[in-house]
Amino acid sequence: MAEALIIQENASKADKYQSLISQINSVIDGEENLIANLANIAAMLHETFDNLWTGFYLADGNTLVLGPFQGPLACTRIPVEPIARGVCGVSAKEQKTLIVPDVDKFEGHIACSSSSRSEIVVPLVSDEIQTELVLDIDSLELNTFDEVDQKYCEEIISLIKQKHF
Ligand code: SME
Repeated sequence: MAEALIIQENASKADKYQSLISQINSVIDGEENLIANLANIAAMLHETFDNLWTGFYLADGNTLVLGPFQGPLACTRIPVEPIARGVCGVSAKEQKTLIVPDVDKFEGHIACSSSSRSEIVVPLVSDEIQTELVLDIDSLELNTFDEVDQKYCEEIISLIKQKHF
């Protein structure tokens, strides 16, 4: 396993993701434990990009429960059924990636931190029915996330799905 993450500071966002994904692959290759792998993926994503919060929420009955993350203290449970709350809850329920350019304009956004301004949430859906977890990244700036983040975050979710679901 790699001992330290190596990402070129001045590389483009896409190049950073590509380098990150190849290092994620080698880190999770020899480990079968989901939580250990999610913890390292959250750490690696957080170290690569200058975001406020990077982490996972895992499905637990009708809610999502906090999983491995990096960043400030976060809320532990987010309702999904019968009424989804927050960007994470809606992404889990609708089973699609959500990019929110301005969290203040997303009805029902859950402000775990008042510093969060924009957000991306990517769900992992197994057997095309069950949301197993979501990846949530929060930024200090408006409009941080775009289709490049969506493409590569979805690739990271696919890696986790292939290995664990
Ligand atoms: N903002 C999220 C809640 C999770 S935290 O930001 C870590 C949401 O609206 O679902």
